Amino acid sequence: MMNLPPLLVTCGLPYTNGPCHLGHLRTYVPADMYVRYMRRAGEEVLFVCGSDNHGTPIVVSAEEAGITPRALSEHYHKHFDETFKRMGVKFDRFGMTDNPATHHRTQTIVTALEKNGYIYKQIVHQAYCTRCKRFLPDRYVEGTCPYCGKPARGDECDQGCGKHLEPGEIRDPVCKVCGTKAEFRDQEHYFFRLSEFRDFLLPYLEQVRGTSNAKNYAIGWIKDELHDWCITRTLEWGVKFPGRDDLVVYVWVDAPIGYIAFTEEWTKANAKDWKRYWCGQNRVTHFIGGDIIYHHTIFWPALLKGAGYGVPHAVVASGMVKVDDHKFSKSRGYVVWTNDDYLDKGLPADYLRYYLLSYTSHTKELNFSWKVFGERINNEVVNIFGNFVYRTLFFAHKEFKGTPPNIVDPVITVEIEKCLASVDQLIRDYEFKGAVDAIMTLAAFGNTYFQTNAPWKMIKTDRAEAARMCKNSIQIVKALALLIEPVMPDTAQRCWQMLGYEDAVANHPVSDAVVPVSEALMRQPVPLFTRMEENQIAELDALLQKRVADANRKKEKIPVVTFEEFQKLEIRTGLVLSAEPVPKSNKLLKLMVDIGTEKRQIVAGMQQFYKPDEMVGKNVVVVTNLVPAKIFGVESNGMILAAGDEASLLVPQKTVKPGTKIR
Ligand code: 2FM
Ligand code: ZN
Repeated sequence: MMNLPPLLVTCGLPYTNGPCHLGHLRTYVPADMYVRYMRRAGEEVLFVCGSDNHGTPIVVSAEEAGITPRALSEHYHKHFDETFKRMGVKFDRFGMTDNPATHHRTQTIVTALEKNGYIYKQIVHQAYCTRCKRFLPDRYVEGTCPYCGKPARGDECDQGCGKHLEPGEIRDPVCKVCGTKAEFRDQEHYFFRLSEFRDFLLPYLEQVRGTSNAKNYAIGWIKDELHDWCITRTLEWGVKFPGRDDLVVYVWVDAPIGYIAFTEEWTKANAKDWKRYWCGQNRVTHFIGGDIIYHHTIFWPALLKGAGYGVPHAVVASGMVKVDDHKFSKSRGYVVWTNDDYLDKGLPADYLRYYLLSYTSHTKELNFSWKVFGERINNEVVNIFGNFVYRTLFFAHKEFKGTPPNIVDPVITVEIEKCLASVDQLIRDYEFKGAVDAIMTLAAFGNTYFQTNAPWKMIKTDRAEAARMCKNSIQIVKALALLIEPVMPDTAQRCWQMLGYEDAVANHPVSDAVVPVSEALMRQPVPLFTRMEENQIAELDALLQKRVADANRKKEKIPVVTFEEFQKLEIRTGLVLSAEPVPKSNKLLKLMVDIGTEKRQIVAGMQQFYKPDEMVGKNVVVVTNLVPAKIFGVESNGMILAAGDEASLLVPQKTVKPGTKIR
């Protein structure tokens, strides 16, 4: 074999502003499977990731939580680190972008880019909030996408065309913090000459490895014009732009540089050289979500190229996640939280790993539903894989107290070899579902072999023949334990131990699948899996449905209003001059109210709580610019504000003149 550089696998870095969910796992679990497999296929692999601590998503969330961005980051960093471990996703290094290594590598790279002439200064029209008295970078501002007209964030059109937006591009900007209409003000910023990398990127993208979605999108985009990127922000939190204390670099500069920094952190601790992974010919393989393809196929390779580093070997992008056929959405309740909804309910990580890996091909849309989850676990994992392993081992243990010493039939070895070859090819092609299917086909083959040969009958007449069948089946179990490890590592280990091995299955090459199973003493077999019960599935589903219903209610009742919209309401104090019941109504009172500039007739639903006489002379609070309405045939010109179902009147603490504006 040619002397290949080591394989470096990374996963898109999670922002430290919220917990881990199914959307994250859709990328991390396949990456973990790939790493586990490639290692056991004999490759030298390093697997790094870390948390993305900078940028406005974190600053805005920290501000909302009333803590520092560092404290928020540390909290969620720990959360992700622990959650990934619980899910069996094992990084060699899980770093933080706010740590010294990323600060240092970022400043080194930016300095190199400046030296190489890829950075220039320019005045930009940056959104500015006159109320908060500050510039509004990225997520501090919301408005309309200039390309597709959909609502957008300051730096990306997240609900429409998905385009990256440069500072100043967003239309109708509004301050996210206070809702004020923002204005544009001039400010000096630094730009990266992305536009100069077109000639490099075209051939680069033609040969880049990975999934076709990443490559094809990127080639499509590069046919349009490439715009330079503004790479500085007016924020305190972040990596300082070299020589400018008032500016930090855009989070999308230091985040991918984190990949290098985390490699450095690992190589430093393990007496290795990080340049082997990043300089010259390399095998850097990025696993990312489908929403950040542009950043990884265009911006990031250009940045690396401009600074003189090696460029990524492969970009593997996962498809969208849906929940119950709805677009994944935290605010709409279509979300599955890794801990709260899954692990903390006592469900095995391996089931979810299996579901994520086998549901559909990596680049396609994955639709999660508890019902399908339960069906697939029961029909495939439990009924096929689990059933075959348990029946085989149970029989062997009962009849032979372990593995019989027979020779494995060549047809069985051929079947296993076929499976090994196709799994290998499929995983190298990032076809994870195909690989899981191939493994499950071997399990189904085993099941059928055991069922049709019926060694439990044979043993009554021909013990030697039954032993042969048993040995063949056990060899398939061994192959399955070795093959399923990247998919369901915990299951594989338990299966391995039941076969009588004491060591870690993960330490064996997959090719051991055809090495005859040793005559080790088997352990008393126990079923590998428990079925998902219908009521359990129903409970989990009910929780999801409740979350969706709650989110809907919340959305219906509390629409968000901008400060501007709120200001449209005119609310004044009023003095009640007279009050009488509305004929034929036992709820309504007709009031005459002095609102300073005029007297208004207002109908209010407070007869049950206030006698007409009681109302006269009261100071009240009135919305004075509501559209007039007829209630029970009586005209009403305004609304009196009251709290709760008992209509407790809102009154000013100190007496004020009728018509005083509420603000
Ligand atoms: O989109 C995101 O969630 C980012 N935090 C991903 C960063 S990946 C990278 F390049 F570091
Ligand atoms: Zn503001």
